[in-house]
Amino acid sequence: MKGLNDHIRIAGGKPLEGTISIQGSKNAALPMMAASLLHRGVSVLKGCPRIADVLCMEEILQRLGAVTWWEGHDLYMDCTDADKTEIPAAFTGKMRSSVVLLGAMLSRSGRGYLGYPGGCVIGKRPIDLHLMVLRSLGAEIEERPQGIAASCKRFQGAEVTFPKRSVGATQQGILAAVLARGETELLNCACEPEVKWLCVYLRSMGAVIRGEGTSRILITGIESLGAGNMQVPPDRIVAGTYICAAAITRGKIVLENHPEGELDAFLEVYRKMGGQYQGKSGKLIVDGTGIKNPVAFLETEVYPGFPTDLQSPLMAVLATIPGKSRIREQIFEDRYKAAEELVRMGAHIRIEGRDALIEGGYPLRGCRVYARELRGGAALILAALAAEGTTCVEGYSFIRRGYEHICQDLGISGVEGTEIYESIQLP
Ligand code: UD1
Repeated sequence: MKGLNDHIRIAGGKPLEGTISIQGSKNAALPMMAASLLHRGVSVLKGCPRIADVLCMEEILQRLGAVTWWEGHDLYMDCTDADKTEIPAAFTGKMRSSVVLLGAMLSRSGRGYLGYPGGCVIGKRPIDLHLMVLRSLGAEIEERPQGIAASCKRFQGAEVTFPKRSVGATQQGILAAVLARGETELLNCACEPEVKWLCVYLRSMGAVIRGEGTSRILITGIESLGAGNMQVPPDRIVAGTYICAAAITRGKIVLENHPEGELDAFLEVYRKMGGQYQGKSGKLIVDGTGIKNPVAFLETEVYPGFPTDLQSPLMAVLATIPGKSRIREQIFEDRYKAAEELVRMGAHIRIEGRDALIEGGYPLRGCRVYARELRGGAALILAALAAEGTTCVEGYSFIRRGYEHICQDLGISGVEGTEIYESIQLP
């Protein structure tokens, strides 16, 4: 996923101000797109973000035989004839969430082949829990050197306990169980809002699901599902990133279409740092002018704890606050790629195993830095906003995977509108 113009230049040093409307959620939209395969007809996702990962998933659906089109930000998916069952690694290698298509393909067609999934390089990211839940519901799965071949006439409901909470594996289990024979009980499920939104979407299609948002989800399998039609909820990680942008520039912003109630752990930290916020008439007014307190210790956790996806953006903010902060990354083992780039810009950050030790308050200076993954890349953009001089962030395509208008939203001029997404050329 690279283009000719894979960098952006950012002139820093100005407090952020203005009103930003939050895009639809990437992590909610992707599994909903997979769920749309379960209806033999047209489903629509309204307010769907037009970001590279969504376009990649759209291309995969087309590859399976779906006809898709956009009307503004509404994505229509006609899955009447989406009966192909093979997704080559050229697609799956680009995006980890493609793995949830396996359960959907098996539910629909009884078999499926999937190249191994890719995605951001932030740790090992195995798929054992995905395969475990599918096997528990009756799939025969063969792990080949290049990919996974699976078959299952019809899933059979069962009780399945996840040994570890996983957002994707929980979604996989749900997608498999909605059309299974009988009842499924999923235990130790992920409670992230994106699991809940998938269930809300599936329920709009007729699925019988209870308990989403808790660790115990009960599903009664039915024979078929109707058309899906839903507004994609606002992206809580994009909202959190922009609140960090206000914090790092000590600016003030207003967020429209913000994800109410989904950012509590993050906002609590923001408040302790000296930030203020207030919900008013459906908007969130964010004031970062008083940001001044370091964070002695913070751990990333499963929902409702502090989200791992906001760890790098927060680290950039902490680099600008005098005093010592410590972050412990508990979800992914290799999610500090942004740290060494921030150090290049003048930040004082030391990584010790799962901990990042930040000695904040040293001035950040613009230079050339490299985004290596989505959220770490966003953190570099934030640091650039606060730095003296101009920063060139290479690897903009990583950031475009998840942020539709980050330059426009953060008042960065120059590159917005550059078409970075390249469709996949198969032999
Ligand atoms: C999703 C989000 C990602 C977020 C993450 C954690 C999407 C598209 N991505 O990723 O932005 O950072 O949740 O909130 O929604 N694990 C296993 N075996 C598996 C699956 C996961 O060991 O089969 C481990 C992972 O390596 C990780 C932990 O479980 O250490 C949590 O991962 P998981 O919740 O599955 O993350 P994703 O669904 O990939």
